[in-house]
Amino acid sequence: MAYNLLKGKKGIIFGALDDRSIAWKIATRAFDEGGRFTLSNTPVALRFGELDQLAKSCEAEIILADATKISDIEKVFKRSMEILGGKVDFILHSIAMSMNVRKHREYDDLDYDYFQRTIDISALSFHKMLQVAKKMDAINNWGSVLALSYIASQRTLVGYNDMADAKALLESIARSFGYIYGREKQIRINTLSQSPTRTTAGSAVKGVDGLIDFTDKMSPLGNATADECADFSIVMFSDLSRKITMQNIYHDGGFSSMAMSLKAMNQYNKCLDEEEKL
Ligand SMILES: NC(=O)c1ccc[n+]([C@@H]2O[C@H](COP(=O)([O-])OP(=O)(O)OC[C@H]3O[C@@H](n4cnc5c(N)ncnc54)[C@H](O)[C@@H]3O)[C@@H](O)[C@H]2O)c1
Repeated sequence: MAYNLLKGKKGIIFGALDDRSIAWKIATRAFDEGGRFTLSNTPVALRFGELDQLAKSCEAEIILADATKISDIEKVFKRSMEILGGKVDFILHSIAMSMNVRKHREYDDLDYDYFQRTIDISALSFHKMLQVAKKMDAINNWGSVLALSYIASQRTLVGYNDMADAKALLESIARSFGYIYGREKQIRINTLSQSPTRTTAGSAVKGVDGLIDFTDKMSPLGNATADECADFSIVMFSDLSRKITMQNIYHDGGFSSMAMSLKAMNQYNKCLDEEEKL
């Protein structure tokens, strides 16, 4: 059901690759809520993903950009303002990539070139986006900027590797830039910490199926789906969340406040029983 929460609002959505992408669900929902926006991703993503399809269904133009390159980001903001007829009201940063994760490098055997790339793509790109937007004065007062994060930024989860460090930096950037942009332009900046979700990026994490099952069993409300993440993101882009800024908001069915649940304990005891039988 749509509530027209983004009627009259303009935005930029970075990071939709295919119909499993969280950004894809957010774009679809934003369009249904009356928002108009441009879509941005890399040329490789356009070639291997399904972005064309999303652009058609959301009546959005695609602006190709590598989010680590300042000149590309400037192009995205400039073209978006031309296409949408003025400054934007909402921006989604839904970008992450780690070659160390992809190549199964362990955290105590990282490739440092890969590590720098992880930080650049998954965290610094957020700062670059905000800095470019501010210099170009591309966001309307009371605009809302959201980046997607994961709890590995604050708690250690096996397999998340250098992406945990990138997410910690991402959340810190939201706070540091949120202060400046809030003070000067009333623009709010937040990160949304989502449950593990089966997407291209999510599936690269080692042991992701076990992780998804575990967090589901640990969370009183169960894992949050990508569609539910889209619902909440719309609230964050809408005027209903005008005074929320510099926050990392958990959207995880309660997982982040749990230490042990009955379901997880039962599963653990079952494993112990089986081990004793061996
Ligand atoms: N899937 C999960 O379990 C999960 C959980 C919490 C947070 N997140 C976060 O959600 C966001 C979206 O990931 P997703 O799970 O939808 O996966 P996804 O693979 O669909 O999206 C990742 C996107 O990053 C883009 N990207 C990579 N390098 C880029 C670059 N240099 N410039 C611009 N774009 C680039 C990719 O093209 C892709 O569209 C990420 O920040 C991810 O860490 C995902």
